Amino acid sequence: MQIVRMPVQAGADLDGFRRAARRLIAHGVPPEAVEWNAGTETSLFGEAIESYAAAPPLSLPRAAGELIELVVCHRDPERFALLYRLIWRLLHGERALLEVRSDPLVHRLEAMRKSVLRDLHKMHAFLRFRETTDPDGGERFVAWFEPEHDILAATADFFVERFRSMRWSILTPAGSLHWDRESLTFGPPAKKSDAPDSDSFEAAWRRYYESTFNPARANPKAMRQHMATKYWRNLPETEAIPEMLRTAPQRAQEMIARGAALPTKRDPALAVAAMANQEPHSLEELNRLIAASEPLTPGADRAVLGEGPIGADIAFVGEQPGDQEDREGRPFIGPAGRLLDRVLSEVGIDRTQVYVTNSVKHFKYEPRGERRLHKKPNPGEVKRYRWWLLKELELVRPHFVVALGGTALLGLTGKPLSVMKKRGPMKFGAFSGYATVHPSYLLRLPDPAAKQQATEAFRHDLERVAAMVADRSARSS
Ligand code: URA
Repeated sequence: MQIVRMPVQAGADLDGFRRAARRLIAHGVPPEAVEWNAGTETSLFGEAIESYAAAPPLSLPRAAGELIELVVCHRDPERFALLYRLIWRLLHGERALLEVRSDPLVHRLEAMRKSVLRDLHKMHAFLRFRETTDPDGGERFVAWFEPEHDILAATADFFVERFRSMRWSILTPAGSLHWDRESLTFGPPAKKSDAPDSDSFEAAWRRYYESTFNPARANPKAMRQHMATKYWRNLPETEAIPEMLRTAPQRAQEMIARGAALPTKRDPALAVAAMANQEPHSLEELNRLIAASEPLTPGADRAVLGEGPIGADIAFVGEQPGDQEDREGRPFIGPAGRLLDRVLSEVGIDRTQVYVTNSVKHFKYEPRGERRLHKKPNPGEVKRYRWWLLKELELVRPHFVVALGGTALLGLTGKPLSVMKKRGPMKFGAFSGYATVHPSYLLRLPDPAAKQQATEAFRHDLERVAAMVADRSARSS
């Protein structure tokens, strides 16, 4: 048997692997006849391989495509050989192979997939940007991270989406990624010392602190009692205090002259925007503000921002992110999100075309050992986020708003309304909308028959939503 040596680049060479696998399959080369040379630029049989004509894409189950995309990022030198063995078997009579969890190959690939996913989650949650300056004087945020696997390319979309309006670089020992607000480039490996060491979070935190500071309430005496002034200088957020105090009377006067509502402790979201004179004009600006805000519970990883196209036909508003949403930084991707996705697709609504967000942007939870148990936000907390939610909808401009559950109703109307009483079409300010139950409510129903019936009613609600939206676009076209 002639051994074919397949060259692929070191790292997660997804395209190289796909091309190679297509050619090998097209020529009927079995897995045992292939040697994968990751890291080798040329192949002993380079000419033979070049002579393999470009082959058509393979017809694989969707789950296999997703698995391949993740497993190529794994640093196991055998990854390409294992994946090719999987492809070969899928195309040679074992199409349902991935469902056989006990198969040693499937078992090993699944463990690799999970390990890469964990690495991605860690990078999304723990990467910290530090502020620095480009040679042209522009602001750039730089982060150093040491992933376990080659996930830099796989993670690019996530960071571009999150920080589209910033210039940033992510440096790792295996390569670097640079975003200049328009294009993404991959660069060479970096060293830790290439990243700045003063923490930009200090600056962001300080800006946030400044923006929440209420000059009308400034009470220097009380502040000094709480913390001796000699310590102020050394803390990022308190460095700003002397200057803020000096300018407080003038800033308060200016606010009164502008007719701005004086921010109060009870409405800190308004305070954040009004005080800094930074009413957000775009969703990105608003998101920056939300991302810099404090979580309800210390320990929540991040603010989970809304997701979906601006001008979407429908915006779905939920309660607050759950454990999985907090870890991954995306709304409705846990069990409730999966149920929502299923029903959306059953009624013909494309999730990628709708806007999905939450009334409360941070995960509130109770630690229970290793686990973080969801804790319902109280009405005060929901109202704290209300200004942001309304501003968000104003900037997203959906044609129709769907409230999922009581917290969403409270966030949207400011009133503690019963979903069961309000269920159906309703107005949310200027928006036409619809109130229905939250998918988590369906998941919690213990009785299977009741659950099935309630899910059916939820599907019926979303069918009505789809029909109302279709009717509206037919009338306006
Ligand atoms: N429940 C919600 O309301 N929002 C999420 O993002 C997830 C679960």
